[in-house]
Amino acid sequence: MSSVLILNGPNLNLLGTRQPAVYGATTLADVEKMCRDAGERLGLTIGFEQSNHEGMLVDQIHAAKSSYAAIVLNAGAYTHTSIALMDAISSVELPVVEVHLSNIHAREAFRHTSYIAPVAVGQICGFGAKSYVLALEALAERLIAP
Ligand code: DQA
Repeated sequence: MSSVLILNGPNLNLLGTRQPAVYGATTLADVEKMCRDAGERLGLTIGFEQSNHEGMLVDQIHAAKSSYAAIVLNAGAYTHTSIALMDAISSVELPVVEVHLSNIHAREAFRHTSYIAPVAVGQICGFGAKSYVLALEALAERLIAP
């Protein structure tokens, strides 16, 4: 069975209470439950992590290489700033799907730039917690060889 790491960046631990008009009432624990349910349905083993620290996220991407077949990454605000995360993804050569709860392209101009997108297999944004489930569905098709 393929394993997928779902990795969450800064401030996502506050989901549910953080700017609910933008991010909704869903908590990170709710997102994790949705992902684990989707994993069971799709035949994927799920790892689920969150960190507010850029270097910790880099370490988790490096460590994923030995235990996971792919990563679903919501890098939060580091999406728009972090060359270190971009380089980490390029270094491990695991397929990464970039996800966001909100539609970053419909928000402030600084959110339109993603350092993750050029090294990701794709980007899914704007569907709330469902963005994660859509990413897992896309990866399941890719990981289960034809
Ligand atoms: C986010 C979008 C980012 O711009 C923002 O900094 C976040 C959350 C999202 O899931 O919509 O922290 O990644």
